[in-house]
Amino acid sequence: MLRVGFLTSGGDCQALNAAMRGVVKGICSKRDDVELYGFQEGYKGLIYSNFKMLTSRDFSGILTVGGTILGTSRQPFKLMRVPDEDGIDKVEAMKHTYHKLNLDCLVVLGGNGTHKTANMLREEGLHVITLPKTIDNDLWGTDMTFGFQSAVDIATDTIDKIHTTATSHSRVFIIEVMGHKVGWVTLHAGIAGGADIILLPEIPYDLKAVVKAINARAAAGKKFTIIAVAEGAISKEDAELSKKKLKEKQEKKKYPSVAYELAEKIQSKTDQEVRITVPGHTQRGGSPCPYDRVLSTRLGAAAAELILKEDYGYMVAIKNGETKKVPLAEVAGKLKYVDPKSSIIREARLTGISFGDE
Ligand code: F6P
Repeated sequence: MLRVGFLTSGGDCQALNAAMRGVVKGICSKRDDVELYGFQEGYKGLIYSNFKMLTSRDFSGILTVGGTILGTSRQPFKLMRVPDEDGIDKVEAMKHTYHKLNLDCLVVLGGNGTHKTANMLREEGLHVITLPKTIDNDLWGTDMTFGFQSAVDIATDTIDKIHTTATSHSRVFIIEVMGHKVGWVTLHAGIAGGADIILLPEIPYDLKAVVKAINARAAAGKKFTIIAVAEGAISKEDAELSKKKLKEKQEKKKYPSVAYELAEKIQSKTDQEVRITVPGHTQRGGSPCPYDRVLSTRLGAAAAELILKEDYGYMVAIKNGETKKVPLAEVAGKLKYVDPKSSIIREARLTGISFGDE
């Protein structure tokens, strides 16, 4: 008997279901003696032994379904070694559930924090295989995470819609894009949506340069300016502050999010009206785009290959178009940032996009 547990952890994204379907189809095409366990709401399900026994049928018809059939939750890695309010040792509880069910392997779908915990469980002796999910595309070791392209599609669609209204008004439009500490979604949606200014956490902005780019457009007779700003974008001035000083500054003047701060600054330096759009969680919603359906199916099937070979302790990644296994120990705790010197940034600059830094 092959007993496989599944859990989806952290913020959801498109193609989580598609990826699990890929794993199950892959395993069940080779083995009949399979038991499938679905842990509810991420690591919480493993800690509190909250699971459902599933069959391959439960994974059928979900290729295009957004969200996760298992539910998810955020269980911060730094709290994993801290007992819960009832004094339960979470790590021991997870190991207990795994061994009680006699699992051969745990398939974990998640992003950065999730991978730290997955690696810890591997170190604790569990057989773990992970799949790289997140709209942020910030997981080290893979060229692409599933969810990313779907989020880019949605953020691009938002910018496209803003474009049509922008042409009717002389305004500055700010669209705030998700991505946590990195700017992948903003960069791609910004280019795809024809944003005039793109602000990323990896390239701290100078307000003077942003205003210069807005004024240059106005002087060239362009009625509007579209700014795609990453939720983690930061000014040069703030980037130079220590973490403590930055926190103190942010506590003095709280903005709902970076777009509001930027809008206030631009408003004070130009005579243009500013409008803000925050698509927020719509970027994680809906059906996965075809690219993500293909990527997640391939990654899922590649995970199945590893499970069938009993080759555990890896994240399944995509590198140069090929699936490959990357040791979990190498992935855990590392972020993949946009490289400000990469050709995509150079090419974007060449087409006239300002990154607000020069
Ligand atoms: O990691 C995915 C993500 O959508 C980030 O882009 C964003 O910063 C965060 O999750 C939002 O988290 P939550 O859904 O917990 O508000």
